[in-house]
Amino acid sequence: MPLDLVDLVPAPVSVEHGEGAFVLREATALAAGPGTEGVAHWLRSALGAALARPLPPGQPGAPDTVTLRLDAALAPEAYRLTVGTAAVELVGGGPAGVFWGAQTFRQLLGPDAYRRACADPGAERAVARQVVEDAPRFAWRGLMLDVSRHFMPKDGVLRYLDLLAAHKLNVFHFHLTDDQGWRVEIKRFPRLTEVGAWRSRTKYGHRASPLWTEEPHGGFYTQDDIREIVAYAAERHISVVPEIDIPGHSQAAIAAYPELGNTDVIDTTRLSVWDTWGVNPNVLAPTDNTLRFYEGVLEEILRLFPAATSPFVHIGGDECPKDQWKASATARARIEELGLAGEDELQSWFIRHFDRWLTERGRRLIGWDEILEGGLAPGAAVSSWRGYAGGIEAARAGHDVVMCPEQQVYLDHRQADGPDEPMPIGYVRTLEDVYRFEPVPSELTEAEARHVLGTQANVWTEVMRDQGRVDYQVFPRLAAFAEVAWSALPAPAARDFAGFERRMRAHYARLDALGVGYRPPGGPLPWQKRPAPEKMEGGLGRPIDGSPPNV
Ligand code: ACM
Repeated sequence: MPLDLVDLVPAPVSVEHGEGAFVLREATALAAGPGTEGVAHWLRSALGAALARPLPPGQPGAPDTVTLRLDAALAPEAYRLTVGTAAVELVGGGPAGVFWGAQTFRQLLGPDAYRRACADPGAERAVARQVVEDAPRFAWRGLMLDVSRHFMPKDGVLRYLDLLAAHKLNVFHFHLTDDQGWRVEIKRFPRLTEVGAWRSRTKYGHRASPLWTEEPHGGFYTQDDIREIVAYAAERHISVVPEIDIPGHSQAAIAAYPELGNTDVIDTTRLSVWDTWGVNPNVLAPTDNTLRFYEGVLEEILRLFPAATSPFVHIGGDECPKDQWKASATARARIEELGLAGEDELQSWFIRHFDRWLTERGRRLIGWDEILEGGLAPGAAVSSWRGYAGGIEAARAGHDVVMCPEQQVYLDHRQADGPDEPMPIGYVRTLEDVYRFEPVPSELTEAEARHVLGTQANVWTEVMRDQGRVDYQVFPRLAAFAEVAWSALPAPAARDFAGFERRMRAHYARLDALGVGYRPPGGPLPWQKRPAPEKMEGGLGRPIDGSPPNV
């Protein structure tokens, strides 16, 4: 059957349909082979609640049984789902493959399979006879969520992990610190959250707009919250990449511990957590004290995010203005002492220090593409956000790359033109634009392209103060992004967007069952619209011509 007649999102590698159907009954059993017990536990809790099918333990291959097993002949994330008329077999190369296959099985059971309790216990749950063979295109299929600009309470983060899993995305990049808020408890530096997690006011949108207002804002995750989030992600085969931003985007940390800032340039005791948006001049001082402080932070981060599920630690490294270092006698002395050419090299001195530090502890550093300026250890990886150029340079230099160009996959950018879009930011990136995003630039040779680990969509939350606004920006575009990251799509111009939109009809029903506040194809619903009709003068963010942020 051609793919456009199958309503799976993201599209699988192949589907063969047969006659008849498998009916999931109340007595249908679940047999978990060695290594698949975790997926069986997840399936029982997800489908048991949604469909009133408790899936009691059964014998592998028996009639009226769903059998899970591993087959080392498949790649770890690959799976084969065989739906017969009498039984179902789900085989994965590893537990992750079985889990992604379980997500496919859930899609085939219809939108009710996404509910948290059973709406209709008597409903027949039939799945057409078929064989689905599938494997992801990329190993890194991510979403970055900025919880600094607006805090997302823990329940919202857990919900987003479920949404990632439902789309076969496997990396959650957790942007935990920035100028506007420090969101992770660090036991040895309690002021990071006592002071750094709170700001006295916050802005929504452009100064000239009637939506501009002021309100206190804050919140943070305790270490127990973080452990819960990491464990929840691990059950869903999602790796968490914590981001602790250095040496820029650090005003919240400096507000908490003024000695981290350039105290010979400004009175850092007067700084508070930043209450507006943009690139901030208050960066970390290049001192030994700063290095020891962040080593202390990262020691706790490494304990909270174990190596098995967090091999990468993101250290930010983006948008670090050098003005304070230029004016600082301390920074100049450091430049001289280290024999550096100037302030730009101070930034790479920071990065190289933590690159070594993380490598010695068995982790890999990843940072925004500015970290390329100054040279990196071979194991370090790069998030290419300023277009493709940084990613191309990194791959050519032998570094692994995650492609997340702002122009393509920053989901804070608006989805359509027009006066109804809530709080426009940046430029228009439609569902179709995201669907036609290609993570591997044609400039790379085959060998260089192997350094593209994959891709991620990024969500900066300056104008998203609650879950509804995040949902609106993220969906439905994350479904298109998931297909780019998972499915072996043809070149952008040859992609069947009309077919994707047809499959999305079934997918919107799943998102409805999940309660996702997506942007409907016809435009925002009344409560999703921008409340005031005034022109927003471009909103926040960088317009595509590269002019400065309009904040
Ligand atoms: C970024 O958008 N500054 C990584």
